[in-house]
Amino acid sequence: MEEGVGADRLAAAIEIARRAGALALERFNARETLVVEQKRHVTDLVSEADREVETLIRLAVSEAFPQDAQLGEEHGLSAGRSGLIWVIDPIDGTAPYLNGLPGWCVSIAVCDEEGPVVGVIYAPVLDELYTASRGGGAFLNGEPLRALDGDLRAGLLGVGANDRVDSARVGHMLAALMDAGAAWVRYGSGALMLAWVAAGRLSGYAEPRMSAWDCMAGYALIIEAGGCVRSFPTGEGLQQPAPVLGACAGAYDELVRICDFGSSPDW
Ligand code: IPD
Ligand code: CA
Ligand code: CA
Repeated sequence: MEEGVGADRLAAAIEIARRAGALALERFNARETLVVEQKRHVTDLVSEADREVETLIRLAVSEAFPQDAQLGEEHGLSAGRSGLIWVIDPIDGTAPYLNGLPGWCVSIAVCDEEGPVVGVIYAPVLDELYTASRGGGAFLNGEPLRALDGDLRAGLLGVGANDRVDSARVGHMLAALMDAGAAWVRYGSGALMLAWVAAGRLSGYAEPRMSAWDCMAGYALIIEAGGCVRSFPTGEGLQQPAPVLGACAGAYDELVRICDFGSSPDW
């Protein structure tokens, strides 16, 4: 399909994301049997399915590319020696997942020192497979993607916030966006909303503090679809949360100005 940097990893990430998505979907269809634990906060949950799906992905990556590092939400960092790192969110949108909503996905990126090389997001309930590789374009189920041609008001705007940030500041941000005429939505999966920016379904996505596994695959898609992203730290910085913002080119500067993220510890 797509040509570009990392074609071998792209093909592997697609195959692995599909298998991971199938397992996640099987567990989703019997979600009343899942053991669910609370992490830091009542809104921060993890289920057996999250851990099992990440294990499936990591084993497949280790087998195919033992020289690559891996960073996953549930099982952390494992070192590599190739200069490439797989950044894995086995289920992004655990809250919608556990509540029986369709808006969740498997998110897999492969990154180097410059950012994402490959990004794959698979939403099993919707049967949507988003794929991108550096210089190779962005696709949804094989069809090329373009970000919107317009400003912040050209479409809905995705937003997110988690328990790590100051709720009053989030309130101010949402109010400022409303005052600017942006119609914001929160769907429950930041990774999927970033994919929707690439697909031209949203004008942008903003969240004051996220982790690399939430955003790197979505960033690969947005860049390849002609949009703009706020840079996320690379190298060791990949392990720390940071502000996340991606948008179509005509919305980006205004969104940056309104959200005023600065550096995330301020939030
Ligand atoms: C979360 C989702 C949510 C976002 C949070 C993330 P998880 O990831 O992407 O939309 O607002 O910041 O932590 O916990 O469902 O993998
Ligand atoms: Ca996530
Ligand atoms: Ca997750």
